[in-house]
Amino acid sequence: MFKKDEENVVDIPINLSVDKLFEPVMQLKSTHKVSILLVEENISKTVEGLKEIYEITSSAKISNFLNENISFAIRAERIGSHEFTSLDVAKYAGQAIVDLTKKKFGTRSPVNLNHPAVIFDALVIDNKYYFALRISGEESLHRRGYRVYDHPAALKPTIAYGMLKIAELKDGETLLDPMCGGGTIVIEAVRNYRLRNVYCMDISPKHLKGAVMNAIASSVYSKINFILGDARKVDEYVKEYIDVIVTNPPYGIRMLRQKYLRTLYLDFLKSSRNILSSKGRIVVITSEYVLFKKEAEKLGYKIAYKRKVLHGDLEVEIIKIVPK
Ligand SMILES: C[S@@+](CC[C@H](N)C(=O)[O-])C[C@H]1O[C@@H](n2cnc3c(N)ncnc32)[C@H](O)[C@@H]1O
Repeated sequence: MFKKDEENVVDIPINLSVDKLFEPVMQLKSTHKVSILLVEENISKTVEGLKEIYEITSSAKISNFLNENISFAIRAERIGSHEFTSLDVAKYAGQAIVDLTKKKFGTRSPVNLNHPAVIFDALVIDNKYYFALRISGEESLHRRGYRVYDHPAALKPTIAYGMLKIAELKDGETLLDPMCGGGTIVIEAVRNYRLRNVYCMDISPKHLKGAVMNAIASSVYSKINFILGDARKVDEYVKEYIDVIVTNPPYGIRMLRQKYLRTLYLDFLKSSRNILSSKGRIVVITSEYVLFKKEAEKLGYKIAYKRKVLHGDLEVEIIKIVPK
């Protein structure tokens, strides 16, 4: 299997059929797209690179997946600076497949950009070219189908699931998201774990109602306690020890928000200490790492883990803290 992120390239046995892979692939919870790498090579960043893309694509073994009646489309992406665009990449890779199928089958496989039977990924990252067969379909796997209420700052379910993994959430534990918005984190948790108790809290009645709607759409409503409340005094609402708090507080993009965020972080972290169990841990996604770390350390938490992640176009940090 092949993902853009080099660390996620996984070797699969060459004789495993694509049909057998489809089912496990569709179960992946923190992955957007999955493709089988057919060919990869270095290319030039100048216009010369386009001819190389044509040649490299022509060497891909595609006859198991295509014939003269099966339509295809190329989905191209380009990262880095090049003398050509992603449209050029798609054009040259597409032409290579057209010429290849014509040679192999006598008639070219039809191109269908809207509803292709087969999707190929043509990806250029700096001077590397990857040509791959998409096996997870057109839609990104982060679309789970339960989002009937679209929170304006909703987290991708894949990131929410990743945060639960970072929290090392286990069956039988208690979980709280005190700023739950549309409920993505708790919904992902209930869909994937058997938890003792789950709390979804937000200060906004509108967003909390949205979380209820999403939970109903995901058939997990009865497993979640919904609370209209203030994360700055979370200990006044939740009356049991919580093993894991995972949350996505508002981002401080506007200056006015910075002051509110400081008290929000401080008071949320202070009141959380009163309800955290002895094995308690908190995982937060924030664009304000420095501020969050300062407030957390002031209150006697230590940073147990952190990593950068892209939330849309925004580079943010996922941080795990535990009481010292
Ligand atoms: C970034 S959004 C969370 C989005 C959510 N993760 C989702 O996927 O839909 C932050 C949420 O924090 C809530 N919030 C802000 N201040 C709060 C407070 N003091 N107590 C509880 N919730 C608060 C906002 O109403 C908003 O819904």
